[in-house]
Amino acid sequence: MDLRYINLRVEDGTAWVQFNRPEKLNALNPDVFRDLETVVAQCEQDDDIRVVVLMGNEKAFVAGADIGHMAKGDIKTACALTDLSMRVQERLADLPKPTIAAISGYALGGGCEVALCCDFRLAADNAVFGLPEITLGIIPGGGGTQRLPRLVNLGAAAKMIMLGEMIKSEEALRIGLVEKVVPLKNLKEEARILASKLMEMPFMALRAGKTAMRKGLNTSLKDGLQIEQNLFCMLFGTEDQKEGMTAFLEKRNPVFKSK
Ligand code: COA
Repeated sequence: MDLRYINLRVEDGTAWVQFNRPEKLNALNPDVFRDLETVVAQCEQDDDIRVVVLMGNEKAFVAGADIGHMAKGDIKTACALTDLSMRVQERLADLPKPTIAAISGYALGGGCEVALCCDFRLAADNAVFGLPEITLGIIPGGGGTQRLPRLVNLGAAAKMIMLGEMIKSEEALRIGLVEKVVPLKNLKEEARILASKLMEMPFMALRAGKTAMRKGLNTSLKDGLQIEQNLFCMLFGTEDQKEGMTAFLEKRNPVFKSK
């Protein structure tokens, strides 16, 4: 795989996806987005990959879309960039496997938006979150105005989107933007522990739960309930459902085969 700005390492069922453009705090230019798309496609196809962890370096998860690239642009450039970023981020959000953003340092603009596409957000105690696009005369263009208010309360989202306020990990935890804050030195280990827990889950049910939540959020309650019912019933065709319930009745731990 020909990657320039992202390192991909697959280890014990986990894909470790690391942004690697440190000289620009991992800012997202079209080449970084194309690398991300290649990696997401690989994660979709490779059955050995069960969980995906996205991370940056100590100083930055991702400090946003590349301002140097955007500064030179016109409307056409902006459309091309957002066509690409939206496509890649939608694909990441729809990945039928659990995704974890393990965030240290700056997660700004597009970096915050990439994290919002993941199922879980773990933050190091040095993480800083923000959608500072307004300070550049624009608004978030990679889903921030839509995904953030769906995750945190509207006022907290407004502070970030309309004032460009940056917040630290503890505040991100308080408003529900992240699920856990850990010391920086423990971040990778915490991501590994979460990945291991997810890998113990029956895969078809894990996938169904993710699909029901994600699809349901974008529809009416009535349609969402229908999505849930369809997936619930579908799971009764899996070996793992038989095993899970038999194991309960036999008072033993289930041995899931993800079938
Ligand atoms: N796009 C392009 N380059 C970026 C960038 C971005 N979003 N964020 C950081 N960089 C570059 C800097 O220009 C600098 O490059 P240089 O050494 O060639 O000048 C390098 O990364 C290091 O950043 P620097 O600003 O020197 O680090 P800092 O510790 O002083 O400040 C930030 C860190 C994150 C506060 C600051 O870089 C920043 O505000 N970045 C932009 C954040 C943003 O607005 N993101 C949303 C974009 S839509």
